[in-house]
Amino acid sequence: MKAITIAIDGPAGAGKSTVAAALAERLGYVYIDTGAMYRAVTYELQRTGVILTDAQAVCRAVDGLTVRISGARVSVNGGDVTAFLRTKEVSAVVSTVAAYPCVRRLLVQEQRAMAQTGGVVMDGRDIGTVVLPDAQLKVFLTASAEVRARRRWAQNRKAQALTRAGLEELKEAILRRDRQDSEREVSPLRQAGDARLLDNSEMTAAETVGVLADWAEQVMNHVH
Ligand code: CDP
Repeated sequence: MKAITIAIDGPAGAGKSTVAAALAERLGYVYIDTGAMYRAVTYELQRTGVILTDAQAVCRAVDGLTVRISGARVSVNGGDVTAFLRTKEVSAVVSTVAAYPCVRRLLVQEQRAMAQTGGVVMDGRDIGTVVLPDAQLKVFLTASAEVRARRRWAQNRKAQALTRAGLEELKEAILRRDRQDSEREVSPLRQAGDARLLDNSEMTAAETVGVLADWAEQVMNHVH
């Protein structure tokens, strides 16, 4: 069976990472979490004290930066930053960093290189629209804001995340980030014209993976 490329986009907390990772595992594909790359750049900028609203300073700092994903690990200039990516501090400003064209150029280049061989499930905000416009299967995964906040809350508790945010606070943070991601000029969050829409508010992760696996199989049967 021919290895295809699968793009999954959608708002924060829709379950993209969970579902994309499980789908990749089921298909024997590589999973690439592009959000983790934006988070890694954000963490690095915070660590080195760059003023995030200073476009010139940000672009100077990311010039020559090496961001790599290997399995579930993310590194910046060879140093493993995986443990620092999902803090409240990073989540609060990652959308500001992701709006800079210089940041996107750096990461999109790396993302395209990783997808070249096929056999990849990539999730993010602009995968179907910008990074991999030729992906054979594109999915726009969404869920109600209420459900997304609840999922993120449960996820944080399970991971004993460094954040102790309450449900309402999380919902507000998620909606703020969605707004920022949808309204930015470069590569805004939106459904690609040829993407299949799936609202999984009423579905479990396993059910969602099942639907995507069926879609992937349909596509594979038509690709030669
Ligand atoms: O996991 P969650 O849905 O909270 O977000 P994420 O996938 O880790 O992405 C974090 C942030 O990175 C998003 O809110 C976007 O601002 C940015 N991002 C992006 O701009 N483009 C992508 N392809 C992936 C993430």
